[in-house]
Amino acid sequence: MNYRHAFHAGNFADVFKHVLLSRILAYLSRKETPFRYIDTHAGVGRYDLSGEEAQRTQEWRGGVGRVLSADMPPHIRELLTPWLMAVGERDEEGMPLSYPGSPALAQYMLRSQDKMTFCELHPKDVATLGANMGRDRRMKILELDGYMALRAYVPPVERRGLVMVDPPFENVDEFDVLAQNFLEAWRKWPTGVYALWHPVKDSRLIDNFYFDLRKAGVERLLRLELTIAAPTPDGRLVGTGLCVVNPPHVLAEEARILLPWLANRMALEADGKDARFMVKG
Ligand SMILES: C[S@@+](CC[C@H](N)C(=O)[O-])C[C@H]1O[C@@H](n2cnc3c(N)ncnc32)[C@H](O)[C@@H]1O
Repeated sequence: MNYRHAFHAGNFADVFKHVLLSRILAYLSRKETPFRYIDTHAGVGRYDLSGEEAQRTQEWRGGVGRVLSADMPPHIRELLTPWLMAVGERDEEGMPLSYPGSPALAQYMLRSQDKMTFCELHPKDVATLGANMGRDRRMKILELDGYMALRAYVPPVERRGLVMVDPPFENVDEFDVLAQNFLEAWRKWPTGVYALWHPVKDSRLIDNFYFDLRKAGVERLLRLELTIAAPTPDGRLVGTGLCVVNPPHVLAEEARILLPWLANRMALEADGKDARFMVKG
């Protein structure tokens, strides 16, 4: 477990993931009945952008920094509002002081009747997560393997909700591990909403992943991807994806509005010529 998210917090992949997460949570909040948000790989909740890790990479400048400094058309601003609100305090130049990870975003968006469960395996991160999130009677934090939680904690008692699976993808077989663990959970709770994050590097691996899910009988799948540049010689991450199972019916339409704007805004090249997005139902 070498992965430290603090180096990458607020980068283009985080913005993509969290904006989509905010749209799913907004949809779940339309009904009064409570729901549960389960985050299997939670991280520390909120990231200090003046901290050593963020300062060293400055990745956030190409993600949340680019978005916050943009002139936003009203229809984009409207869809981004919950995520923008969760970003919180800014400096005099309008740049964020910290960046909300998935737990802080959920904490901001969930209502008093909703519940959230966060799993994190790195002991130091578990402690930081607890300190960053404060006291919240809606929340449970578990020092636990996220894949075990994925299999064990569904269906939640609320019978409504979202499971976010955001593993570090440090191992070569991560797509297979993700598919197997997801399928085990899905068989127990086929009507839940699941958001499965993955990097976009080798499209054959992603095609195989979707093929495996469909072969197992998963029908309601939304494939969302965003790429900010052509592959670079140093192999850095330039593409990000989210597989949403049982997506809210408005999500594809919202993604078709948001992703081209985000891709263009966060593109590595100023003309955005290699920026791409995919919305495939
Ligand atoms: C990509 S980061 C999560 C970021 C977070 N979801 C967010 O959006 O703010 C992945 C996290 O998973 C943790 N992790 C790694 N292996 C894990 C496992 N088996 N179970 C739970 N957490 C794990 C890492 O310590 C890291 O904090």
